[in-house]
Amino acid sequence: MPGATHSSSPSGRRLGARGYGGRGGGRVPYVEAPPEWRGTTVQVCGLWPFGVGFSTPAIGVPLGRELTGGATLCCDPISWFARAGLIHNPSELVLGKPGLGKSTLVRRQVVGLAGYGVIPLVLGDLKPDYTDLIAAMGGQIIKLGRGLGALNVLDPGEVGAAAARLSGLDRERLLADAHGRRLNAVAALITIVRGRPVADTERTVLSAALRVLDERHHGVPILPDLIQVIDAGPDPVRAVTLARGSDERYRQVVDPLHASLLGLLDGPLGDTFARATTTPIRLDNPAGACIDISGIDEADQELQAAVLLACWSEGFGAIEAAHALADARLAPQRRFWVVLDELWRVLRAGRGLVDRVDALTRLNRQRGVGQAMITHTMSDLLALTEEADRLKARGFAERAGMIICGGLPEAELATLTQVVRMSAHEQRMIVDWSTPPSWDGARDRDGEPPGRGNFLVKVGGRPGIPVHVDLTPAELAVNDTNKRWSLPTTR
Ligand SMILES: Nc1ncnc2c1ncn2[C@@H]1O[C@H](COP(=O)(O)OP(=O)(O)OP(=O)(O)O)[C@@H](O)[C@H]1O
Ligand SMILES: [Mg+2]
Repeated sequence: MPGATHSSSPSGRRLGARGYGGRGGGRVPYVEAPPEWRGTTVQVCGLWPFGVGFSTPAIGVPLGRELTGGATLCCDPISWFARAGLIHNPSELVLGKPGLGKSTLVRRQVVGLAGYGVIPLVLGDLKPDYTDLIAAMGGQIIKLGRGLGALNVLDPGEVGAAAARLSGLDRERLLADAHGRRLNAVAALITIVRGRPVADTERTVLSAALRVLDERHHGVPILPDLIQVIDAGPDPVRAVTLARGSDERYRQVVDPLHASLLGLLDGPLGDTFARATTTPIRLDNPAGACIDISGIDEADQELQAAVLLACWSEGFGAIEAAHALADARLAPQRRFWVVLDELWRVLRAGRGLVDRVDALTRLNRQRGVGQAMITHTMSDLLALTEEADRLKARGFAERAGMIICGGLPEAELATLTQVVRMSAHEQRMIVDWSTPPSWDGARDRDGEPPGRGNFLVKVGGRPGIPVHVDLTPAELAVNDTNKRWSLPTTR
């Protein structure tokens, strides 16, 4: 035992820290780390003075047991950033082969963080992976898609309500922010429909038309109202086109924009953006909100991208409004946990999405937003068509406060180790976890993948912490993402 007094055996051998040396002594060449258990001072005070401090961080959402010593690991980016100071920004990138439990790990963090008062926001649940959980916690579920619900990008939503409660400079700032956000959202939707960015003059026309709408329109405007303003061409809008009194010149400038806006209302995006918002996001629900966009077909990439962008615009607008109210001491300070699952699909869905995620990864600290990004492999991130997008996507991994790796194929490690240093032992562990499940002839189902629920938590070049996520019975009830496979089929 460490610390035991060295004494001599009757045979004259010396007892060292690893037993009796010499022939027949049974000296242990390798001392294994002892198993660890965690308890409160109330429960284990009787063991004093044998208690020791934790070898793993104990601040944050309990994830599971460390794989070698059995110590509890508590880990979530917001607690590790704000309370423990272990990481430099409140975000994580979760990587791993499909079905190994990435979404499950993040769902655990959603539950735990909600318990700490952090509001979970899933602004675009593509599968859906989070709807059952958020509904079970009493959060808000919003369904969007063709024939399901509409989202009006011109609706100021929570920002309007917050601005009404503010005054002076705070109000001006929030309204200016809301104006920029609406302008960006409309421009982004047009970019998706056209497949190329909006021209500078068109952006200026849109901005002027939105200001006219703000001044002259009663109630919440919708996109057809914006089209009407551009069509009528009031003076403030004409002025920015340099038409100088010529109607023909004005039409020349605004016609392409007019056509694209009409395409937004009745084109590939259906009527999702043409009507008033069916259910606005509300951020005063402590169980958060989940926008379920799983009703949109995977092949319908344009609509998927457009809805994602519009959801983010609305969600971040609401976050900005909550902060403005908190700064003016009109509401409590809130923190948010934004989940971007299936990041590879998000990034490939359309132009402009990489830039939005990029902005998000840079600004999360200022916005009081913690963020989880989930994807299968680094190669997914690097498979984007444009070189500039690939570099940005690589930046997501480099800037993430922590990287959590589940089982990965060996080919992936070359790229991954460029972003995060890993020992040979850690690399082997991750590849082992990606072993496929065994054939199980005895049961009428396949065995479970051996690496399911195992993750390595890496922060920079520090040694990783391997952990197994154990689900509680309450979680199992809202955790089946293999639903379509677990129900009995008709033979
Ligand atoms: N730690 C765990 N213990 C038991 N079952 C688990 C665990 N983690 C995940 N599962 C189960 O495995 C299945 C797949 O999990 P999950 O959806 O989290 O995987 P994923 O890595 O997000 O997959 P994908 O990449 O396809 O999104 C689910 O049915 C889930 O209930
Ligand atoms: Mg998943």
